[in-house]
Amino acid sequence: MTLPFFPPDLFEADRDALLKIVHEVAVTPDQKFILGTRTAELEEALRAETGAAHVIACSSGTGGLNLAVAALGIGPGDEVIVPAFCCQPVASSVANVGATPVFADVDPWTMVLDPADTERRITPRTKAIMPAHVFSIMADMPAFRRIGREHGIPVIEDAAVAQGAVLGDTPAGRWGELGVFSFFQVKAFGTAGEGGVVLTDDDELGRRVRMLRNHGQDGVHRFRHHLIGQNSRFDEILAAFQLHRLPTFAERLERRARIADRYTERFAALADRGVLAPPAGRDGRCYYVYSLLVDRRSDLRAWLTERNIGSHIYYPVPLPRQPAFAEWAPAGADWPHAQQVSDRNLAIPIWPHLTDADVEYIADSVCEFFA
Ligand SMILES: Cc1ncc(COP(=O)(O)O)c(C=O)c1O
Repeated sequence: MTLPFFPPDLFEADRDALLKIVHEVAVTPDQKFILGTRTAELEEALRAETGAAHVIACSSGTGGLNLAVAALGIGPGDEVIVPAFCCQPVASSVANVGATPVFADVDPWTMVLDPADTERRITPRTKAIMPAHVFSIMADMPAFRRIGREHGIPVIEDAAVAQGAVLGDTPAGRWGELGVFSFFQVKAFGTAGEGGVVLTDDDELGRRVRMLRNHGQDGVHRFRHHLIGQNSRFDEILAAFQLHRLPTFAERLERRARIADRYTERFAALADRGVLAPPAGRDGRCYYVYSLLVDRRSDLRAWLTERNIGSHIYYPVPLPRQPAFAEWAPAGADWPHAQQVSDRNLAIPIWPHLTDADVEYIADSVCEFFA
């Protein structure tokens, strides 16, 4: 038995549907391959699903963050607080407009942006806060919403990995002034290519994001550029594919959550042996990845490899320690929790078509290592 970390058969069940869609779009008389009726239909379906006033499909999660930062008019001299342990676009989306990414530390267990450290780093130049949900846990959005409102600073919610998660009664993506989902293939609502959406309840921000994604045009007058925009458009084939996959999305999420429940139950006994499983539960959880924090990470990884179980280390170097972001890592600055989780995280397979027997085999293998 081989259980890869990234399953090669992610879209196997939908392959025929995908081929049919490719054919349909290819022979449609209007020959519109981007930003057509299917994209509009997907935006409307996600609007209905999340309750957001505006959902704007774009080229990727990274594209969504770029659009969100640009829509807020952030630029040189401005600061945006981002997590020190995360995917690099949280910082590049800020640096790309000439603004300063200010790195704040993360929680040493949940690995998401720490609200207290964020609040400490607010200055008169802070123009946005960008918490990101990481792996299986949503950031503390009630705290970030409070901080944002108290200081008059907009929140960009990076929900790239958390589509379908709900904290309290509020879905991921709906907590900030702007939210972003990613459709990158391994994401919970991944697709057979690139894509993402920006969500907002603010009419003006929605209008700006919609123009920015297509070179600042308003959708009525071609070649009239109201804003300096980007090419962050969305593909009609993928829009139709996502519409096809949307009705079964909740089922796949539930399967992921059940696998996580089982892992967490099995790993509770390992807490005193240098293994920390993510906090249990369903509220504010998004089981995109199931990541353990382990002292003996490379030994456990080798042990799993011997048993044909794939694993993955995310973000082994915190963002401010990356050469690309050195300029924003002041001398003597420290992000101890980001460093700790960079050194200790190890993700194990959680894709929805794992069988119960696969899950037990993986859990047994982890437990045997620590026996
Ligand atoms: C937290 C986070 N934000 C943003 C992104 C970027 O999304 P995309 O790969 O669609 O550009 C990712 C992708 O892995 C992510 O994990």
